[in-house]
Amino acid sequence: MKETVHIRLEPLGALVPVRKGTPLQDVLFTHGVEFPCGGRGKCKGCRVRVMRGSLPVTPEQERMLTAEEISAGWRLSCQCSAESDLTLEMAQWEAAILIDDTSLRITPKTGFGVAVDVGTTTVVAQLLDLSSGNVLGVKTALNPQARHGADIMSRVSYAVTEGQHRKLTDAIRKQVAKMIADLLEGASVDRGALSHVTLVGNTVMHHIFCDIDLEPLSHYPFESLHLEGTALDPTALGWDLTPSPRIEFLPCIGGFVGSDVLAGVFAKQIHLSDDLVVLVDLGTNGEIVVGNRSRLLSASTAAGPAFEGARIYMGMRASTGAVSEVHVRDGRLECHVLGNVTPRGICGSGLVDAVASALQIGLILPGGRLADRSNSLMLCPPVKISQTDIRELQLAKGAIAAGIRILLREFGAAPEEVTKIYLAGAFGNYVNIPSAGRIGLLTFDPDRITPSGNTALLGAKLALFSEPAEFSSLASRIEHITLSEKPDFQDIYVEEMMFPAQAN
Ligand code: FES
Repeated sequence: MKETVHIRLEPLGALVPVRKGTPLQDVLFTHGVEFPCGGRGKCKGCRVRVMRGSLPVTPEQERMLTAEEISAGWRLSCQCSAESDLTLEMAQWEAAILIDDTSLRITPKTGFGVAVDVGTTTVVAQLLDLSSGNVLGVKTALNPQARHGADIMSRVSYAVTEGQHRKLTDAIRKQVAKMIADLLEGASVDRGALSHVTLVGNTVMHHIFCDIDLEPLSHYPFESLHLEGTALDPTALGWDLTPSPRIEFLPCIGGFVGSDVLAGVFAKQIHLSDDLVVLVDLGTNGEIVVGNRSRLLSASTAAGPAFEGARIYMGMRASTGAVSEVHVRDGRLECHVLGNVTPRGICGSGLVDAVASALQIGLILPGGRLADRSNSLMLCPPVKISQTDIRELQLAKGAIAAGIRILLREFGAAPEEVTKIYLAGAFGNYVNIPSAGRIGLLTFDPDRITPSGNTALLGAKLALFSEPAEFSSLASRIEHITLSEKPDFQDIYVEEMMFPAQAN
């Protein structure tokens, strides 16, 4: 019989018995820890601190971690296995998952429906009574594919280069099946009463879920021919649902711009607007729509994970111990720490605030260099941001700002003509809008910017009350622009990486 060891996970307080030799990645993943580089030992995103017990330092970890970090007990969990009892502090915490609680105006139907937002990091599902539009339950989970890479390109590479498409497909189908079963059980709704399931996600999530070849998305020009909405059969999905409900993954728009953005356009009624509107989803893969009732343009841009606090020296999710706000008081930086505890790291919105505040008092120069030419800026001990963190933020904000600028130019409009800017996604909900303006991420009048929550999930819910043709015809109206095909994209990107010299 195999020996059992016990792992205590702090601050969750969970005690997990596992077989000796179990990879820590398997143990931690089920507790919400993500593995941004897919567990390849290349990103430091899966760091854990050994508080009791010991974990050997492998050569990979020696390469990635500083001597200071190693002696403080930090290890890369993806490179370790459980050989003895351990107490570990996880550098990451449970993901903040955005749900949607907008009340719907609907035409009643019979039966029950489930809307699912299949995000690259998280999955959210809501059960609705279609006769009233009332939400009867919500389930959130980490996307089980996240252990094979945090961003869409690492999923594509895992599926195409490593031949693991099937594994990714099975994992997400199983996850959604469980969420639906839990929702029905939680609301005491009979399986047979489920009449409709709608799913939305970016093009990679769509292709994985629907088992469509990802190869065209693995290389230039990153265009798939299979963008249409996909009707799915529960038996083929391995779902135990009879009689069979209508199940559909809504259509994609083009490139990596998927039905999550389409659903967002539908939810905010941009296609019916007389005024010029911008919708931006500020994620690892930033997605942008610009338009009104007469024309709609879309693009996606690889912003990197800085907005989510990933690949940042002391980056963490927005949870206890994270520096979430930074202000200037009496010419000095002042931090707000979530939970009023000793600071442990900084989240995406904190990073934007920190850089905006440091620009304000001249600690960071418009080119992005620290004014004193050092390699880091102390915020509140021990939390600091490094010169590399500032560069990561410049890359992220430059990509988004360049995308918006090019789409507006293609539309033939000036930024002043935009009447509304909807910020979709979790980061958009928490970012300080004046700080986003100060760093040049969103240079619109702050009064016109509206954090809009999970517009993808809202659109997926509205799709439960609509005909599929409505979404296909909307998808066909939205032009997809490949930013990298624009000859001046690189120049604009580099320009937009600069910080504005002074506040607007
Ligand atoms: S180093 Fe472990 S997931 Fe990247």
